Parts: sequence; structure tokens; C-alpha cells
Amino acid sequence: MAIYFDEVTQQFHLQAGQTSYVIQVHKGAYLIHRYFGRRLLNPKIEQPLITVDRAFSPNPDPLDDTFSLDTVPLEYPVFGSSDFRLPAFEAELHDGSSIVDLRYKTYRIFSGKPKLDGLPATYVEHENEAQTLEIDLLDETLQLTVTLRYTAFLSHSIIARSVSVANCGQHDVKLKRVLSAVCDFPNGSYNMLHLPGAHAREREVSVLPVGRMAQLLESRRGASSHQQNPFFALVSPNTTEDSGEIFAFSFVYSGNFLMGVDPDQYGMIRAMVGINPFGFAWQLKPGETFHAPEALLGYSQQGLGSMSRDFHRLFRTRLVRGTFRDQVRPVLINNWEATYFTFDQETLLDLGRSASKLGIELFVLDDGWFGHRDNDRSSLGDWKIDFRKLPEGLQSLEKGLRDQNLKFGIWVEPEMVSPDSDLYREHPDWCLHVGDRSRSLGRHQLVLDFSRSDVQEAILDQLTHLLQSAPIQYVKWDMNRHMTEVGSVAWPKDQQSEVGHRYILGLYHVLEELTKQFPSVLFESCSGGGGRFDPGMLYYMPQVWTSDNTDAIGRLFIQFGTSLLYPSISMGAHVSAVPNHQVGRITPIDTRGLVAMMGNLGYELDVRNLSSHDRDRVNEQVLFYKSIQRLVLFGDLYRLRHPNTQKDAAWMYVGVDQREAIATYVQILAQGNPPMDRLMLRGLDPIIQYEVSLIVHDLQYSIPENVLHVAAFGDELMNVGLVIPYLLGDFRACAWTLKAR
Ligand code: DGJ
Repeated sequence: MAIYFDEVTQQFHLQAGQTSYVIQVHKGAYLIHRYFGRRLLNPKIEQPLITVDRAFSPNPDPLDDTFSLDTVPLEYPVFGSSDFRLPAFEAELHDGSSIVDLRYKTYRIFSGKPKLDGLPATYVEHENEAQTLEIDLLDETLQLTVTLRYTAFLSHSIIARSVSVANCGQHDVKLKRVLSAVCDFPNGSYNMLHLPGAHAREREVSVLPVGRMAQLLESRRGASSHQQNPFFALVSPNTTEDSGEIFAFSFVYSGNFLMGVDPDQYGMIRAMVGINPFGFAWQLKPGETFHAPEALLGYSQQGLGSMSRDFHRLFRTRLVRGTFRDQVRPVLINNWEATYFTFDQETLLDLGRSASKLGIELFVLDDGWFGHRDNDRSSLGDWKIDFRKLPEGLQSLEKGLRDQNLKFGIWVEPEMVSPDSDLYREHPDWCLHVGDRSRSLGRHQLVLDFSRSDVQEAILDQLTHLLQSAPIQYVKWDMNRHMTEVGSVAWPKDQQSEVGHRYILGLYHVLEELTKQFPSVLFESCSGGGGRFDPGMLYYMPQVWTSDNTDAIGRLFIQFGTSLLYPSISMGAHVSAVPNHQVGRITPIDTRGLVAMMGNLGYELDVRNLSSHDRDRVNEQVLFYKSIQRLVLFGDLYRLRHPNTQKDAAWMYVGVDQREAIATYVQILAQGNPPMDRLMLRGLDPIIQYEVSLIVHDLQYSIPENVLHVAAFGDELMNVGLVIPYLLGDFRACAWTLKAR
């Protein structure tokens, strides 16, 4: 059993993996949060809720001046009747008031996990993988029912929460804030870890102490964004990869979000997750229901590493869907950094020929193949071949590549329209805009109004034709600007504040239809790199182009930050040219290869011009990657050294049965006369003896055999460690393979 209800104390106890979550109905009406943390053995908390009379905290029950909603931990707080903290829910009512009083009504416990209508969410394959609790709260006057949904997974320390609001009354209710989860932590001292960033600098790891005022992270950009990822964690001070208590919050949504904490006067910390109320409102008519997306609440008492591995497993197996969930991905070549917009069929086939000789398996034709797109100023929306560049069409190109043993993939940016396009000339009102106000351009383009079903259908139609026009096996779905002038001619004036969320629902609809129609196509999501690297997109597309920054050292930071929550199999990572196009850095080909092997390996450079040294290396890299690919994509990740020290970085993957592993070390800056350094491995079986082989190239000295090949028990490798060879020069790297003897 994962969920208990105790009639006497009116407590719900959810057990998920190693965590417990306890909710109590107080006075038959109020939903109190009692506990979230290490799994409790006893199904109920014996000690009652203690309340005391506090000045300036009003009492909703006139007979009890010790009880105020302002001073107790709550499950789904509403503003206006004695709780002054940031609420989970706010609405504007037909009489202009905004007081809502949600009282406990009833509950249901059942096996499995229901689908969320039109929204991405984690799922179960068998009913016995999880149990779900639904609690109905009711505002009697309005006849408004708010259903809180909690799913406890048996084998993950993660609880999924979502919320539905049903208007069973007579009047419209304007929803202004419907968060997906709020969680009050009674007291304690925490740091807040989150992943801020920018284009080409996504998901930097930032840790701040939780102070005495609200600390909120949000997106107002219409997409989950490069700037903040929809994730944060409350971590105990001194948390490391292996130790510390962590409460993690992830939001399965790709649009504007609000997350963060609101600490109160008594040291209670309110954590929250939901659609950003900024610019949002939803007109809920009688008989209608609104669904708020899923929030995931994770718990770890063993540091960041175990939190990451738990989310990795959940995302990999019960968020991502489709054929590619359990499949290794082809090693690809993408022509973007090799050619940008300037190519013709011969160039592409040439590139393909060289790539194929290196063992590369799939060719991705990036931007510039359609309309008359010689630069980024035109043609988005016209998904038809540019016959100037590809006179024989896609079929012929695909055939030419197939003859070289390469599968074929293509880039699209379906949510956008260029003012210089046939689509825009025909339908100037199909983009997001507000009346006659000027339409701000981003990368010279406008955002299509995906809140409209006619736009969704027209784009679906174009994409269906495209994907049927040739054997396309991979699609890179890009999105290169954020939303401005968010308005739609399709919706009346009192529904304009719905457009941002309706856009995301429309996008999800298109993705659902397309992925259903083309189940054997591998979809990669992209938004100028990792601008929409969120669990919502992963539900439809199993991998994401992690960043437009392809520099190996820049990627260390980005991939480490990303790996806090997202599994390696979800990351696209490419080897690119030097000097690197984004930062100008020159790094060895081996380092570029080993860093890109932290995800789905690809190449994004003109492989025709490789030196013979680099060509040999790439050849070896592809073979080596194929030999460790399952380990990287399906194994457990251990971050051994974080690049934040600016000195080095190291990580490893361990197979599920602990019989195989691969560890990688990257030196960022070389030191003169460095100390002898050892790398402590993790995740191995202490009593298995492993054969360890060091892989390192281009050293200026020869390595003794007893460093190149070691046989040692997991115990020794994790505690005594492995000698790191002396790597002369900045940005050098090496790796070790481990196999049980
Ligand atoms: C942004 C992507 O992140 C790049 O990889 C590339 O596809 C360009 N767009 C093409 O315009």
C-alpha cells in the first residue's frame, strides 16, 4: 500500500519510495500539511497539530482563537481569509469580490495514475506502480470544486501533484492563480538550488540561502526559458553529491511558470510551483473544468546524486514515451556549424560521404533548406523545398544519403513565421499580436498563434506532408524567440489573458498528434539550444538539443547543470570545430569527444576538412561510444567533480547490475608541478573486482602498464581511488572503462 487514510486522525499518509507525505483534515474543513521527508514507518502521526493564539493572525473559527490559517502549514492555501502568505489559488468572482473559501469535502484513493487531459505528465504502465489520492475541496457558495491529485510512486521517492478546478455553480469564475503545488515546511534552515542561465549558458547551478523574504524564480517569456529552468530544490546546508537532505520541485510544463519560496514570520517556508499568475487569467464558465499541469516533488536524504538518479529514472522510463524511450540513438552529423545557410545537394552529400566513413549513422539537414532562406530573415512558415539548393528534392537527397548508409533527419521551426513568407502574406493575423500595435520581431520572426485551432491544423498539415514526402527518421523542432504582444484575434477580450497558456496547450496538441502519426521518427526538441529543456517537452520529444554552445568546456557546466534533473539520454551533445564558433576556444578532439559522450553523441563540423589525426580520433570515438552507449544512456550517473571549481570535472556511469562502468576526467586548467591526484569512484559494488583500463591519447610521455591497466575491487576504487595521469596542457581529458572480472 502506498497511501493510507486514518479515519480517527483524518490523516492521509502517502509513501513514495523513501519518502512520506502526510496531510490532515483539521476541524473537518481545513487541509493541513503535516509532513514531507524521510519515510515514516507508522502510518499516522500520533502528535496532534498544536496551534497557539498569535497576534495579528485572525481566526476563521470564532470559537477557537488559537487557530489561524496564517500560522499553520497548509496544502492548498487561498488568500483573504486569514492566511497572508502567497496563496496557491486566487479568483475574481461575478460580484467583483475575490474571497474563496475552500473546505475539505471528500477523498478517493485508487491504484495507478490517471492521465491529465491535454497535458504532459508522468505515467504508469501497470496499476501497481503507484497509487493516487484525490481530495476534493469545495467552496459551498460558489459551488466551485478544487480537486488536489497526488500520485505516490512505489519505486521513486517522488510525488506527482496536479489540480483541477470545476465550476459547478451559476456564474463565471475568473481564475487568476491556480498553482499546481504548495508545500509548507514547518521550519528549518535550507539553501535554495536553482538553474538560472542565458542563451548558450543554460542551467548554471546557483545556490542561495533561503532568507526571510520571498525568493521566486519565474518565466514571463512564453517558454520555460534559458533564463530559469522550471526546477528548484531546498537543500540542507553543506549538501553534497552524497549527503544532505533535499526537497526537489520540478514542473511538467513548457510555458510561463512561477516557483520558489515564501518564508513567513515564524520561519515556516512555503514552497510553490505553478503556471505564472503574471499575465494569466482563465474564464471558467459554469460546467467547465480547468486543469493545472503536473508538479513533481522529490525527496532525497543522500545528497544531490541520489536526487538526480531518481528523477533520471522517472523521466527516462515514465515521462518519455514512444519507440525511442528504450532505444539507443543514432550518432549523427548536423550540417549547421559546417555550412550554416550556404549549401547545395552536392555539399550535403559530400559531408555525408565523409561522415559515413567515420561510422556516423544519421545526417541532419538543419536550417536553410526551405522557402528562399539564405539567412534568418525569411521563409519560416513555408515548409517547402528550396529547389535552388536542392533541385532534386528531399527524396533524392535522402536516397543519396541512404546509399551511404546514413539515415536522414530534418530541422523545422513550426511555431514561427517570417514576415517575408507566403504564410504571413496570406494570413497576417495568424501570429500573436495585439490589434494595430507594432509586432516586435525576434531573430526577424514572429510567433504563430498556436492558441488557434486553425493555425494548429494548418501547421500539422504542412508537417504531415513534409514527413510523408521522404523517409525522414529524425526531426529537430526548433523555437528561436520568446513571446511579445501576446494576444489573439481568435479569443474575445475577456479571454486574452488565456492566450499564453492556450498557446502551450495548442503546442502540446500538435506534438501529440504528430508524434502519434509518426511513431518511428526520433524527435529532438530545441529552442536556440536548451531554451525549452523541460519535462513538458520531454513527454513528446525524448531528447533536447542541450545548448547552442558547443564548446567542450562551456558544455561541462551546461551538462552538469542539466544533469541535476535530466537524464543523459535526453541531452543532445555534439563535437564541433575549433576554434569554437561560440567562444573561440581551442580544445583537443579527444576532450570534445569525451564531453559529448555525456549524452547523445553527434558531430557538427565540416568532417571533410579534418586532419588525418582528428579523423582517426573521430573514427575511434564513434566506435568507443557505441561500446559504452547503453551505459551512458541507461546507466546511473555519478558526478565526481563539479566544473565549478574551474579546475576540473569528472563523472561516471555505472550499469544497472554494477558490472560495467565508464569514468571520465577533464582537466580545465593545467597547473605547474601538480600534486598527485586520485579520482574516487562511486556507485560500484565494493566486492566486485573490476578490470580498469585507462584511455588517454597524445601524452608526451609513456604511461606505466600498472596505471594503464588496473584490477581492483569496487571498495578500493571508491575509497583509495584511481591515479589521474598527468595531463600536460589545458582542456585535456581521459577516461577509464571498468568491467567486472
Ligand atoms: C538554433 C539551434 O539551436 C541551432 O542548433 C540551429 O538549428 C539554428 N537554430 C538554426 O537556425
